[in-house]
Amino acid sequence: MNTFYVTTPIYYANSLPHLGHLYTMIVADTIARAKRQRGIETYFLTGTDEHGINIERAAQKAGRTPKEQADYVVSYYKKMTAEFGLDTAHGGYDIFMRTTEPFHYEGVSELWRRIAKSKTPKGNDPIYKGHYEGWFCAACAEYKTEDEYQKPKNEGEPPTCLIHDTPLDRVSEESYFFRLSDYDEALLSVYETRPDFVRPESRRNEVISFVRGGLQDLSVSRLKTSVSWGVPVPDDPAHTMYVWFDALINYITAIGFGNEERQQKVGFDRFWPALHLVGKDILRFHAVYWPAFLIAGGVELPRAVVAHGMWLDPNGRKMSKTLGNTIELDVLQKHFSIDAIRYFVLREMVFGQDGRFGYEALIDRSNSDLASGLGNLSSRTLTMIGKYCDSHVPSGVIPEDKLLLAKRVGVDTDETTLAGFIETARDQFGLHFQNLAFSRALETAWSIVSRADKMITDAKPWDLAKDENQKHTLAAVLFRAAETLRWLTVLLHPVMPGASQAIWNQLGLEGSPAQIDPTKLKWGELKEGTAIGDVQPIFPRIDKAKTMSEINADQKPTGVHATEADAVPGTAPATKPEPPMKHATEADAVGVTSFIEIDDFAKVDLRVGQVLSAERIPKADKLLLMKVDIGEEQPRQILAGIAQYYEPEKLVGRKVVIVANLKPRKLRGYESQGMVVAASYGEEGRPVIATFTEDVPNGARLK
Ligand code: MSP
Repeated sequence: MNTFYVTTPIYYANSLPHLGHLYTMIVADTIARAKRQRGIETYFLTGTDEHGINIERAAQKAGRTPKEQADYVVSYYKKMTAEFGLDTAHGGYDIFMRTTEPFHYEGVSELWRRIAKSKTPKGNDPIYKGHYEGWFCAACAEYKTEDEYQKPKNEGEPPTCLIHDTPLDRVSEESYFFRLSDYDEALLSVYETRPDFVRPESRRNEVISFVRGGLQDLSVSRLKTSVSWGVPVPDDPAHTMYVWFDALINYITAIGFGNEERQQKVGFDRFWPALHLVGKDILRFHAVYWPAFLIAGGVELPRAVVAHGMWLDPNGRKMSKTLGNTIELDVLQKHFSIDAIRYFVLREMVFGQDGRFGYEALIDRSNSDLASGLGNLSSRTLTMIGKYCDSHVPSGVIPEDKLLLAKRVGVDTDETTLAGFIETARDQFGLHFQNLAFSRALETAWSIVSRADKMITDAKPWDLAKDENQKHTLAAVLFRAAETLRWLTVLLHPVMPGASQAIWNQLGLEGSPAQIDPTKLKWGELKEGTAIGDVQPIFPRIDKAKTMSEINADQKPTGVHATEADAVPGTAPATKPEPPMKHATEADAVGVTSFIEIDDFAKVDLRVGQVLSAERIPKADKLLLMKVDIGEEQPRQILAGIAQYYEPEKLVGRKVVIVANLKPRKLRGYESQGMVVAASYGEEGRPVIATFTEDVPNGARLK
């Protein structure tokens, strides 16, 4: 049986979720829907991590018991997941896992016992009793070594956590240890033999060098007198298990490890191994400790551990409650549709790298890609079918004797040109999706939107409708547009389930795009004569100024907000109308004054390139150092003076135009082997990089 298991981290039950938590759930949900759509039986886990000193303290502060605290946070999570369409009722997760479930206690104790009975690869006992002396951060639930904390300013004070800036707890007590130091070679051999085990590549390298640097044994219990809120150590109830030990094991207890009832209900053998999605902040736990525990317990390793980057605010700061720059989910939900949010986070973050989240960017993308892009393609196509074809899908066939007429108005009489383009895009979309390159996959889907838009604009159905002789041409153009829409709804279903279903219904189709395997789509299967449904706008345009002022009013009065106005000092306030983009200065507006011959132009070798990496250069605030693939054996190293306007992480994967035969020159000690072409406008010469809306291979020449 073909099955698939995907997990998010289980979130601490000490505080309410924000955009960061929502993001991993959206990614997992998207993957799960794509698998289900392909007929694969899929299990999707999310949930909460409810033990440990941090929850105990949060509960104490709120005047609740730890369980009451966990129940409170869980009820919020459940409400939030329902509102965002991520729960079981909306086709999302299969289990909201809680580590306070009795079956979890059983499974965790079972794994502890199995580990304790085994031997390490070096022949030692994996679990031994010792004495722990050191510092512990309750918020990270992590022991900290000297290079992981800030030394105190005054003697006698505790050091502080580098992440949370809070004082660490001194721990000096008896503890059980897991002999992690004996698992280094076993782990390195996993990373070596399974290069896809930790992804992306850069994170895998980090993990390998961490393990090569030497592993220390891990304290895996606390005295019950210090931490009582947790799973008791089997046969020694004076000890409580370390919260990460218990939490990681949730991934297997949820599906039946160590509990017969769960095993019957879900099935460990049916679904394990899982694909774990985690933020890069908790990669070490998942890619080092977790596999070591599993090796020790004789359990198969996960399918893969995939780490995504962090959402930062528009200033590039990590979102945190203390800074007050988190994106509040209630504000987000009030002003944006679920599909727009899903589209934005998947399109905007290059998977694996950090991304910046700002409301203005979300509005801009919603308006350009959704309202003017997909939404407009859908409404113009369906409205025209309503107007010119009596609300029925017309025939796509142009009769032989009308082909010449169609050609005369520039309509491609060979339908397979468009069909071929879309089939190739569908395949590319699928490959990107499989590689979790959601941003690129969506770029590919939008090349289909552009292609269909261009077909309509070129064919001008409104003119064709005036000529009775062209009625077959008109019908064919509208059929092709409608069939393109059908394909788009199927491709986009995992990303935007609501909008895809809405377009599907408006096309008059039965069932759901969720039931159509995109790899099995066949061009032309949209049935002639299908009565289209009620045409409604799918993505209404968002009034930026109005929405931004409402968002600003909604946000909590304290703290720094995540709007772009914060990001660039001195920029116009968010609510001010945008300046016209046409000619920002007089100089830009002046027409062309002298002409060149075509041969002069031919001297410039312009090539399509793709940005492989982009980074800032220390002490050069205008320059970005990029590696660009222009179809040659080696990528080009290119410097571009765009650092003030482009975030390096957002450029990765983007198609650009490169002047390939420009003499190399050195800037700040780096050789630049070409130039990126960009428009420049305004008094400060703001650069806007030239790019393509359709897919084009690297190295293609611009003529
Ligand atoms: N309880 C542990 C995980 C145990 S898994 C066995 C934990 N919980 S957490 O509540 O801190 O959640 C961390 C996860 O939330 C991150 O790994 C990531 O998936 C998500 N995110 C939290 N903040 C985030 C951002 N700012 N950006 C992106 N994702 C982030 O760690």
